[in-house]
Amino acid sequence: MSQNYRIRGTEEYTRIYNESKTSPEEFWGGIAEAFSWSKKWDAVLKWDFNQPEVKWFEGGKLNLSENCIDRHLNALGDKNAFIFEPNNPNEPTEYISYSELSKRVNRFANLLLSKGIRKGDRVCIYLPMIPDLPVAMLACARIGAIHSIVFAGFSAQALASRINDSDCKMVITSDGSFRGEKSIELKNIVDEALLNCTTVETVLVVKRIHSKVTMMPERDYWIAPLLEQQSEVHTAEQMDAEDPLFILYTSGSTGTPKGMVHTTGGYMVNAAYTFQNVFQYEPEDMYWCSADIGWITGHSYIVYGPLLNGATSVLFEGVPSYPDCGRFWQTIEKLNVNQFYTAPTTIRSLAKESLDFVNRYDLSSLKTIGTVGEPINIEAWNWYNDNVGKGKATVVDTWFQTETGCILISPIPNATPSIATFATLPLPGVQLVLLDDDGNEILGNDVKGKLCIKAPWPSMARTIWGNHQRYKETYFTAFPGYYFTGDGALRNEDGYYRITGRVDDVIIVSGHNLGTAPIENVINEHEKVAESAIVGVQHPIKGMALFGFVSLKTIELDDENLLKQEINQLIASKIGPIAKLDFIQFTQELPKTRSGKIMRRILRKIANNESDSLGDVSTLLNPPVVAQLIELYNTKFKK
Ligand code: WTA
Repeated sequence: MSQNYRIRGTEEYTRIYNESKTSPEEFWGGIAEAFSWSKKWDAVLKWDFNQPEVKWFEGGKLNLSENCIDRHLNALGDKNAFIFEPNNPNEPTEYISYSELSKRVNRFANLLLSKGIRKGDRVCIYLPMIPDLPVAMLACARIGAIHSIVFAGFSAQALASRINDSDCKMVITSDGSFRGEKSIELKNIVDEALLNCTTVETVLVVKRIHSKVTMMPERDYWIAPLLEQQSEVHTAEQMDAEDPLFILYTSGSTGTPKGMVHTTGGYMVNAAYTFQNVFQYEPEDMYWCSADIGWITGHSYIVYGPLLNGATSVLFEGVPSYPDCGRFWQTIEKLNVNQFYTAPTTIRSLAKESLDFVNRYDLSSLKTIGTVGEPINIEAWNWYNDNVGKGKATVVDTWFQTETGCILISPIPNATPSIATFATLPLPGVQLVLLDDDGNEILGNDVKGKLCIKAPWPSMARTIWGNHQRYKETYFTAFPGYYFTGDGALRNEDGYYRITGRVDDVIIVSGHNLGTAPIENVINEHEKVAESAIVGVQHPIKGMALFGFVSLKTIELDDENLLKQEINQLIASKIGPIAKLDFIQFTQELPKTRSGKIMRRILRKIANNESDSLGDVSTLLNPPVVAQLIELYNTKFKK
């Protein structure tokens, strides 16, 4: 595998970074040469952030699954593409070589075609972390269908709204999933979702947990027998570089989830480049990212990035605590993992367990250990560095978003420094700026501001499915001429970046982005509820937790706990258990401005035990409510 885009050393980073800034087209065009294109692009880049419109490698023709698989078959056919580690450690590990993957993907591609799926159709994938998941994705990419993967922890209603938003023609699911001791009946959830969907013609079902499911004739099919009938040969559809590759939904601070649309050519180049550099993957290395493929991290760094580099990627079905809290470390020892990539919330939850779970295993194979998804606190960073990396593996704190597609800020082992809690420096091709509230660039170091990006990078989402206006408003309107990330950041005296967290109404709980407005809307559906406001509070394991202030229609409340339970059940069924509230405070009124807006800033202070610094309250309509809420907080929640 060509490694001609790999950065080795500090000087090289600085030189390449500068080149990428002055000549982005030569920089990215040069990297793109490493891949197979059936027709070369006409132009590397066209862009205008005011429209906004961004095109990379326009006119170029390629197929992503060909670049992930076929391109490697001669040299790496026998090499493992995936190593599947099942939930139950007694079940055998499955080794899937590049040539085996090729056969499976081709069969699956032929199956999709036989069921009437064509280029441009949307296919929803609702699967657990089993090999069929990447195979289904790659098969979609192979025929040019757009995959929309929905994390298999979302509820029927959340699934239905995503299916409907992009008019999916097919759903690929399994009878169920294993998660530690538990199993979840996914097909039943799909059945419930489809009661409210009209566009789905076919449901393909993988048998995983052998539960009893209902199969609707002419709609639902078991996958295995159909795959057996399919040919192992398939000629990949040639796509335009700007044809959509996938849609992935992410929560916004308001409204329905946003279907971020990623396109083919730029995403490929960016995913390959960042995987190679951030993890410093060597040809014989074993790489493991413990995320779920249902999130962007899994798309880019379990499937596409590793395969584009001919890497071996571990696919882990289970949870970190099953059969005990040593499972991750045991797996690293067993498979000799060299690069490991996980989330701060997972690190914190394992750090609270006995160190014996870690020390029982030999982790000396590790060279790079990564973290992603939320700010990592110093204790977690140090614990990871000392006990997992043993001070020898390099910690890479990587920053990116569903919208950015790939990692944009991260240390590069042996080239740029790793500093606790800092994502440090932009990768080549990424032009970061910090802006003040008026949109002025904040120059110099030792400063704080809103993190924005000045120029396009190849893997940026091109639009929100079906709603380009919303794309423009969300990312390009607050600061015209810039992409606004929604995050705050600081740049220290040496110019290194630290991401401090969201500056909008998105709260990241255990690494999952949750918009407050959609959850509030669900709470407000309860017959006893008048209004609600959710704020984030610091939490030792989850990073942030949800604190809901809920005002009631009735003054009398017979059973507070029952109402709390009902509210959380409602949230679990409409969104998913991940969005349940950790704390609820009922009230008769919420603090509001004279113009009737809920004063979330004040609620955030109260819920975080910072009510001695409420700030400006001159616009407050109903001061007694605030005093009352502070008192309630002090009696019920203050430790
Ligand atoms: C946050 C996840 C601090 C950030 C890949 C971003 C981080 C949001 C980091 C995107 C990090 C991600 N340090 N914060 N290293 N990585 N974030 O779309 O607030 O699920 O905007 O993508 O996660 O979350 P998403």
